[in-house]
Amino acid sequence: MQVRHFIETDDFTKEEYLEMLKVIKTLKEAEYKGIRLPLLKDQSLGMMFDQPSTRTRVSFEAGMTQLGGHALYLETKTLHCGEDRETIKDTAEVLSGMCDAIEIRTESQDTIIELAKWATVPVFSGMSSKCMHPTQALCDLFTMTEYLPADKKIEDIVYMFIGDNSVLGDNIGGVCRTEARLLSKMGVTFISCAPKEAEMAPEDVAYCKAEMEKSGGKFIQTNDPYEYIDQVDFIATDAWWYHGSDHLKDKKIATFFPKYSINAELLSKAKPSIKVMHNLPGNRGYEISDEVWDGPNSILIPQAENRLHTEKGLLVYFMYPLLKEKEKLHKEEEIAKYTKEVEALVLK
Ligand code: CP
Repeated sequence: MQVRHFIETDDFTKEEYLEMLKVIKTLKEAEYKGIRLPLLKDQSLGMMFDQPSTRTRVSFEAGMTQLGGHALYLETKTLHCGEDRETIKDTAEVLSGMCDAIEIRTESQDTIIELAKWATVPVFSGMSSKCMHPTQALCDLFTMTEYLPADKKIEDIVYMFIGDNSVLGDNIGGVCRTEARLLSKMGVTFISCAPKEAEMAPEDVAYCKAEMEKSGGKFIQTNDPYEYIDQVDFIATDAWWYHGSDHLKDKKIATFFPKYSINAELLSKAKPSIKVMHNLPGNRGYEISDEVWDGPNSILIPQAENRLHTEKGLLVYFMYPLLKEKEKLHKEEEIAKYTKEVEALVLK
């Protein structure tokens, strides 16, 4: 069976995303009933991080525990990885020999691609900060399906991503980029709202428009937060500055604040049912005003919790079929034979 990685949203079809959503929903339902399925019993996930994380780290780690497995937190600076003595290829091959899957968060998407190239176990991207955050994008889609009115389908969603939508220059719009690319496969209406200097990269716009042609969705760009706000079901944003770009805070505030802030004034022009999203961590009072952050339209905390259910769904989707395939090879007699052999050696 082919090992697949979850590092690029472009690699999967709408049908596959719908399957993943069903797995996530089923596991969340079971969890809410107090049922934890040990589907990944005794499996190990190596988690490499060279940047801080709360949601990604905890959701993968708690997710593995809830599925009966184990996760190892590997702060990259405490590994040999990336040093002259140990390349990404070496690390991928060594970890593949010891773990059943690898998760990695790092600056560069190329590093993640290189790791996946040599890994013989599934690799999950925990974010490449300049480029892509696929687990977040799937989580956000799942969250929207939970808050959709009963008479609406995914294709009916009108989603606006406001703020930093670009991955070029000093911009850090990787979450917007990933969500736009994933959602364009799902047939939603995606509104990219940003100042000129933080508009989505032309390559991403072209990709989304091409995908929308196939999926029946609509891609809209605007510099004016008020232009489409009365049609929006979900409005999302991300940190304007972040770990590694704190020195840009003043520049970012000058670019985005207050025009691209989600505040009460903007929401007063929206549908009363609009939901406000932020993948967090966020700069409170800037991307979202305090009153909206803590207000009735905010789904920030359930959205964050859904990282756990999403990670569990992804771990099962990518790891369980491989585990079952290996288990098929195990015959009862073989297990008994090996147990007997080992016992003969150690039980004296
Ligand atoms: N949204 C997100 O990835 O959060 P962390 O940086 O805390 O993992």
